[in-house]
Order: sequence, then C-alpha cells, then structure tokens
Amino acid sequence: MQYTDNTGLNISPDRPWLAPLAGYSDLCFRLLCKEFGAAVVCSEMVSSKGLYYNGNSTRKLLETTEKEAPAIFQLFGNDVDIMSYAMDYLVKGGYTWFDLNMGCSVRKVFKQGCGSSMMGDLDNSLEVAKAMIRIGGKGKVGFKFRLGVDSEQEVYKELALRLEDAGAGWITLHPRTAAQGFSGTARWAAIKEVVDAVSIPVIASGDLLEPEDGVRCIKETGAASVMFARGAIGNPAIFGEYTTLYKGETLKRPDPLKTMHLIQRHKEIALEYADERTALFKMRTFVPRYVRLFKGSKLLRQQLATCAGLEQIDAVIEEFFARCEAIDLDDTSETISMQNTSE
Ligand SMILES: Cc1cc2nc3c(=O)[nH]c(=O)nc-3n(C[C@H](O)[C@H](O)[C@H](O)COP(=O)(O)O)c2cc1C
Repeated sequence: MQYTDNTGLNISPDRPWLAPLAGYSDLCFRLLCKEFGAAVVCSEMVSSKGLYYNGNSTRKLLETTEKEAPAIFQLFGNDVDIMSYAMDYLVKGGYTWFDLNMGCSVRKVFKQGCGSSMMGDLDNSLEVAKAMIRIGGKGKVGFKFRLGVDSEQEVYKELALRLEDAGAGWITLHPRTAAQGFSGTARWAAIKEVVDAVSIPVIASGDLLEPEDGVRCIKETGAASVMFARGAIGNPAIFGEYTTLYKGETLKRPDPLKTMHLIQRHKEIALEYADERTALFKMRTFVPRYVRLFKGSKLLRQQLATCAGLEQIDAVIEEFFARCEAIDLDDTSETISMQNTSE
C-alpha cells in the first residue's frame, strides 16, 4: 500500500511542532517526539539535488510511516527545475506536507546559494516557492527562514508577505540573521511583526529551550504555534510539558519515572526502525542529555561511552536511576549545555 498522509496540520498554540533538525529528526526521533506530545513533526532538510541524482542516503531521509502523520518533509535547493523534480517525486510518493529551508546558515549549504543564502535573492526564491506550491498544492507548503542574510539586509517581512501572496500554507521564522548563526538572542519581536503583517499561520522558532520558553513566546508574539529544536534534542518530553504549562497546569520536573520511560521508548523505537548498533549509538548520544537535570549526568555520560552493548547500557541507566537526585536548577555546573549545538 502506498504511504499517504491525509492528516491535517490543525495549527494551534496547544499543538507544538518538532523542528527540522539535520542529524537528529530522523523517523525514530520524530516518532519518539510524537509519543511525547509533538503534534506536527518535520524531517531534517533533504537535498533536492540528492533526490535528483538518486542518492541512497538522501532517499533514506524520506523514510516515513503513517504513524507519524502529519509529517512535513523539508527540502533544500535553489534550482527551480531540480526542486520541481524533487517535489514531483515526493507528491508521487504520497507525501502531503512540504517545507523549504531558507534559513540554514551552515557554510556548505550557504555557499551553494541554498538555505539562508536564498534570503539574498528573493526573486529566484519566489520562483522556487511558486514551483513548490504549484506541485505540492496551495496551503501545503511552508517556508522557514531567518531575518535576512545579515543585519544590513533584513528581508523577513517582505519575504513573508511575498510568500503569503504566492500561496504559502504557513511560515516559520527563526529571528536571527544568517551571519549570527546561533549567537545572540532570537528577536521574538520580529515574529510578532510578521504575525501582525500576514494572515497565514506563523510558527515561532528560536531560543525555545525549555517548555516555559514556548508559553512565553506564544504570549509575546501571538504566533500560531511553537517549534522546539534544541529544546527537543535535550528533552523530547518538552512537547507534552509545554502543552501542560500552556493549559495552565503544573509540571513536575525533572521527573525520574518519565525520564526512564522516555529512555526506554527511545531504545525500543530505535530497535524497531534501526539495527542494534545504531540503537546503541543513539543511546550513548541522547541519554546524557535526557538526564541532564539529575545529579551525576556527566559521570553517566562517561560510563555510557564505555558500554559495548545495550544490556550494559540498561544496567548503567538502572543503577543511575536507583540513586538519582535532581540537581539544583540554579546550579548549571552539573548540567550538559544545550546551547552550543550547531545547525
Ligand atoms: C543540530 C541542528 C540541526 C538543524 N537542522 C535544521 C534543518 O535541517 N532545517 C532547518 O530549517 N533548520 C534546522 N535547524 C534550525 C532549527 O530548526 C531551529 O530553527 C533553530 O535551532 C532555532 O531554534 P532553537 O533556538 O529553539 O534551537 C537545526 C538546528 C540544530 C541545532
């Protein structure tokens, strides 16, 4: 049976999104986030050229199942013909929701004229956008961008208005310039400006590291929803936690039972969709982040690095939770930073 995603995005502030995250938001991580409260999930950026030249590793990024619907697949590329090919390929494969990466500031992508570099050539970018919308359908394609290439050339408002006019379904703004990378702070006031300027949904991204940040961002900007990125890498339970806070309910944090359940589910989903070696690698990478609000998380990371199999990992984790204590949230010396992850 062919894959189909007929689920609506139903964009609303109590339905948080998982951001596109290169190297992280694969099918396994998306399913995990979904289980822990993400309403909409995004694939990592997929190269349109990679699809055009039939790259196996590129196609692997398109792995999906109806269980994760609604899922958005993000493309990058600045060539109208190649992007049209990629969109055709996705539509024929039953994919429904699409996004164009116009925000990635990584040098390799920027140098090719893709990602955030597209904010420096709006006319071509609009041609690409129109081709995507023509093939994907009006309202089915979103666009994710930053303020502009640098502070001298901020184009976010013009770009938002032109994309709305072209038939964009939604836009996502990470309010930093490409030149800023991840430095400084995200200028949420710019999100509010765009919310006031367009009538399509605006998804807020940028410095949403804790569930409280999401609630604050919605209040300050009036965005249609929030998109968790580094906050989700550190804690896939952030989605449900955010929704709890958004509804005005209280949150127990950190919660050892929930964290144990999260780790267990990550392992099970990894084993369902990947091999044991990949699951082991994922556990070693992700678990230290999930336990960062408990004392001894740095030591646990060292112990995990020496584990050669999943049974060993289970034993180390079990022992950790048997003696775990939450850290004092004002003492950051114990925690593993989530700030320095690069795009
Ligand atoms: C490791 C990593 C990978 C990312 N990959 C992508 C990507 O593939 N496509 C994209 O549009 N943005 C990507 N981003 C940007 C995020 O989606 C998000 O906009 C950004 O991290 C700001 O949100 P935050 O400050 O809450 O983390 C990535 C960010 C990180 C940290």
